This record gives sequence, structure tokens and C-alpha cells, in this order.
Amino acid sequence: NLYAILMAGGIGSRFWPVSTAALPKQFHDILGTGETLIQKTFNRLNRSIPAENIYILTNEEYGNLVMEQLPKIKKEQLVLEPVMRNTAPCILYASLKIKKKNPDALLVVAPSDHWIEDEEAFAKDLKTCFETCKTNDVLMTLGIKPTFPNTGYGYIQHKKNETDTVKKVEQFREKPDYETAKVFLEQGNFLWNAGIFIWSAKSILEAFEKHQPTMFNQFINGFSVMNTQKEQAFINAKYPEAENISIDYAVMEPSKNIYVLPASFDWNDLGTWGSLYDELPKDDNENVVVNAKALLENSKGNIVHTSKNKTVVIGDLKDYIIIDEKDKLLIYPKKKEQEVKDLLKKMKEKY
Ligand code: GDD
Ligand code: MG
Repeated sequence: NLYAILMAGGIGSRFWPVSTAALPKQFHDILGTGETLIQKTFNRLNRSIPAENIYILTNEEYGNLVMEQLPKIKKEQLVLEPVMRNTAPCILYASLKIKKKNPDALLVVAPSDHWIEDEEAFAKDLKTCFETCKTNDVLMTLGIKPTFPNTGYGYIQHKKNETDTVKKVEQFREKPDYETAKVFLEQGNFLWNAGIFIWSAKSILEAFEKHQPTMFNQFINGFSVMNTQKEQAFINAKYPEAENISIDYAVMEPSKNIYVLPASFDWNDLGTWGSLYDELPKDDNENVVVNAKALLENSKGNIVHTSKNKTVVIGDLKDYIIIDEKDKLLIYPKKKEQEVKDLLKKMKEKY
């Protein structure tokens, strides 16, 4: 009775111009491994969970892409959302659907766009979490040792000098401001939330009922699993009404029964070009070149990525992102990578 909810509805806008609303990053082979991120994630989960128990939630626009890239899944495992409402409605609906099929279901909820190289360690950690959730009413998350005050992550505080492998969480704080994140890091007993959650369908639904009663009632009202056009009509009616909120704010912050397992694998959120740079092999001058024949003269710390294996010549450039994707080109300093998201908005206003 192990199931997975694979969340694949994001746009990945900081990965522009490769990631676009028409073809978001989870559907790209960003790492250059021969598999797209969603394929990699599916296969990683499939080591622990039967393919027929992996549910994919995404925007209706990407339904065909998912079916093409994941030929093992059937239509009824794909939930198509009419509007983006962040991860809380997505997880609530998928949990209701799975619990109806199997009341004893244990779930792992996973983003579709992370980098995890050590799949064996991942499977082992999952197993530990499933065992914990099987017999306890707890919400589990995987924790990552933080390396800098990243304000884009959730922070998990556990007791100092806690020796148990699975640790009781004292506080879950989603995306704190920089000063707060700095204080957290100095304390030593904080982990980053990897955004991978493990719980029983029963526990997460009880948590929704307690902390998000409005959303819970919206979805429970008239709910039944149908696997027909009726199900799509139900989803199409419920989603627009639902609050746009992530699981982190909606359930994790207010819950008291959270436990964390510090992950035994290396992990990267792959949220920005810089995070991709961190994971790829570098040349003698710390440049990363993907899909290009590049001559980098007196240049250091850059990432170069082209869509057509272009020949690229660069001189006197340091710490830049250079992305050539068909009819789009990005040249931007790595240290300002977070701005890429806002640049897109500016572009839309201008053109
Ligand atoms: N189906 C669906 N629908 N999926 C969605 C939606 C939606 O409306 N919105 C986002 N997702 C998917 C994204 O594609 C991604 O795989 C995952 O849900 C998480 O969303 P992000 O938008 O990437 O979240 P985040 O990175 O800001 O924060 C989360 O992840 C961090 C670690 O990467 C939080 O859980 C943080 O606490 C955590 O540290
Ligand atoms: Mg993310």
C-alpha cells in the first residue's frame, strides 16, 4: 500500500529561457543525462513504489507531455488541474483520491524537479519514513543540512543534541527572511525542508481537516472517485474556489506532529541556473559547458548552455549565465540569478 504523489505543476521561471510556461523545466533534460527531470523523479520513486501507484498532478496544459514522457502511467493516475493553486489543493485532492482506493495508503509527496544522485540512499530513507508513518500519526519530511541562509526554503528545527534518527520537529518555518534564516543557521539544530513529505493518507487528511477546514470541506463536498469526465468536472469546479497556498504554510507550519529524517543523500532543488552549475563538472577555470563547443578565454565561473550544440566564443567574463535556447538568449550575472523570474514579467510588459 505504498503510493506517490508527484507534483509537476510548477513553471520553473528562474530557469528561463529553457523553462517556459509552454515547456517547464520538469519536462526538460536539464542535466544532460538523457532523461527529463520528471522521468528521473518517476524512476527514482518507482524503485520503491509500483508504477500504477504513482499519481501525477499537473496543469491541464501539460497532460499530453506527461503521458508522452511517462508511458508507464495510465490516464486515471494523471490529475489535470484547470488552474494553478500551489501545492495544498493538489495534495489534498490526490490524498482523497488515493485514500478512497486504499484506506491504508502510505504516501510520499515529491516535487518533480529535484536533483538526487544517490537513488539507493533515497530509497533507504523512504523506507525508514514509511515504517514510521505506518504505526504513528505523524507527518514526516526529509531534512537537508543547510549551507547558507537561503530564503527560498522551509526551515525545520529539532531539539539540540537529539540522538534519534527520526527527530521530533519543534518548529517548521517556511521561507523566513534573510536575518531570521541567518539566526537559524547559527543555532545548528535547523535543517532545510527538502519538500519531500511522507505520511499516511489518513494522517494528512486529518491534518487538513484540522488546519484547513474550509479547503477540506470544499473538496469533501460531493467527492467520489469516478475516473470519468465527471471527475474532471468535479476538479474543474473545485480548483478555482480553492485557496492558492502551499502545503508548507497550510499544513506544515501549524501542525504539531511533524518528524524529520535528516537525508542520507545529496540533494539540490535545481531552482536556478546557479544550482545547476553547482552539480555539473567544471573545466580548469570552473566553467560549466552544456551542449556547446565553447572557447572561454580568460573567463571563469560561467555556465554556458545552448540548445543546438553551438560553437561559442567568450572572453573576459566572470560568473555569468549564458543560455542560448533557440530564439531566446540570456546573459546575466550568476549572483543575480533570483531576478530571472522578475525579468520575465518585465519582458511581458515591454513586448
Ligand atoms: N500539481 C501542481 N500544482 N504542482 C505544483 C503547483 C500546482 O499548482 N505549484 C507548484 N507545484 C510543484 C512544482 O512543480 C514543484 O515540483 C513542487 O510543486 C514544489 O513547488 P515549488 O514552487 O518549487 O516550491 P518551493 O521550491 O518554493 O518550496 C518548496 O520546496 C522547497 C525545497 O525545494 C517548499 O516545500 C519548501 O519548504 C522547500 O524547502
Ligand atoms: Mg522548488
